[in-house]
Amino acid sequence: MLILGLETSCDETSAALLRSEKGRLKILSNVVSSQVKIHRRYKGIVPEVAARLHLEKILPVIKEAIVEIKNLQKIDLIAVTFGPGLITSLLVGVEAAKTLSYLFKKPLIPINHLEGHIYANFINEQSIRFPAVCLVVSGGHTELVLMKDLSQYQKLGSTRDDAAGECFDKVAKLLNLGYPGGPAIEKTAQAFQRDSPFSLNLPRPMIGTHDFDFSFSGLKTAVLYKIKGMKIDKNFKEALAYETQEAIIDVLATKTARASREFKAKSIILSGGVAANERLRVMMKEKAEKSGKKLFVPPKNLCTDNAAMIAAAGYFRYHLLNKKQRLDLLNNWRKIKVDPNLML
Ligand SMILES: Nc1ncnc2c1ncn2[C@@H]1O[C@H](COP(=O)(O)OP(=O)(O)OP(=O)(O)O)[C@@H](O)[C@H]1O
Ligand SMILES: [Mg+2]
Repeated sequence: MLILGLETSCDETSAALLRSEKGRLKILSNVVSSQVKIHRRYKGIVPEVAARLHLEKILPVIKEAIVEIKNLQKIDLIAVTFGPGLITSLLVGVEAAKTLSYLFKKPLIPINHLEGHIYANFINEQSIRFPAVCLVVSGGHTELVLMKDLSQYQKLGSTRDDAAGECFDKVAKLLNLGYPGGPAIEKTAQAFQRDSPFSLNLPRPMIGTHDFDFSFSGLKTAVLYKIKGMKIDKNFKEALAYETQEAIIDVLATKTARASREFKAKSIILSGGVAANERLRVMMKEKAEKSGKKLFVPPKNLCTDNAAMIAAAGYFRYHLLNKKQRLDLLNNWRKIKVDPNLML
């Protein structure tokens, strides 16, 4: 089976082609056109600019993704992100997918972007066992989810204010480290020396509460108080970046580990843009192994937004449908509507 995935929910225009072979998914192409250099000028994403760039890039990106098969007729399924995300960005991918579905008479399946992040873990991987506890940690979301099997999700908790990625981005902005903030904080934190003149302590919000919710807006405010009236030199920046990263990761890893114990998870799944953070990957792995569980985390290029994860989610969703439901997918080009506020 050949699956074409399309993703335009935020500031990456992406198209991917996946092939399933005996139930195993293989990436044939995963083209991502990032707008990060343009939005960097504004220190954040400008929705109007993002949508215009998606419009410019969507066809060249699709063309590049299908170069191996040349002909879209060969595709068996089209999967597209229909939410959550920026409405004008989502519309570009959804309208492109509808057009291809109509023209080539191909089934079209709408995919929740967050589900896509989770399914990045199922590409080339067949050993994930259920129940699984998933941490989806990205620019707009921080969600702990219990996956009882491929189709059943139960939300355990989520952030009450800022997402973890948003906290990375906002602290990076306060420290003038550039955009996106996550990779910038990670790089600056790596330069932190143990014998630095600064040893800073930041709070670990909600680390001990008996729910599975998170809160990161206070952490950003705590950083704001630390820098008030201070000369922000290189050492101070490194210490603050290091401690911010430690605080965020400590909370994420501790709460995920607790959820995995409480719900007797057999696997722990990490996903979303923040999952590209090396320190988070190491800490989560350590905690998982300590409790005899296996951690699954995608390669770093599949953590941030990409269409391969959308195609993967489409493939698994398709296989949960009966014959009639599969036939109905041929009419989805008339029906699918974007949903910017979609939840898991
Ligand atoms: N190495 C890293 N360390 C920490 N954070 C990172 C790293 N790489 C990326 N991020 C963060 O990941 C976020 C981007 O992830 P992603 O592309 O999944 O978010 P999004 O698609 O904008 O949001 P959502 O998936 O919630 O709709 C940004 O906040 C970015 O700072
Ligand atoms: Mg994302």
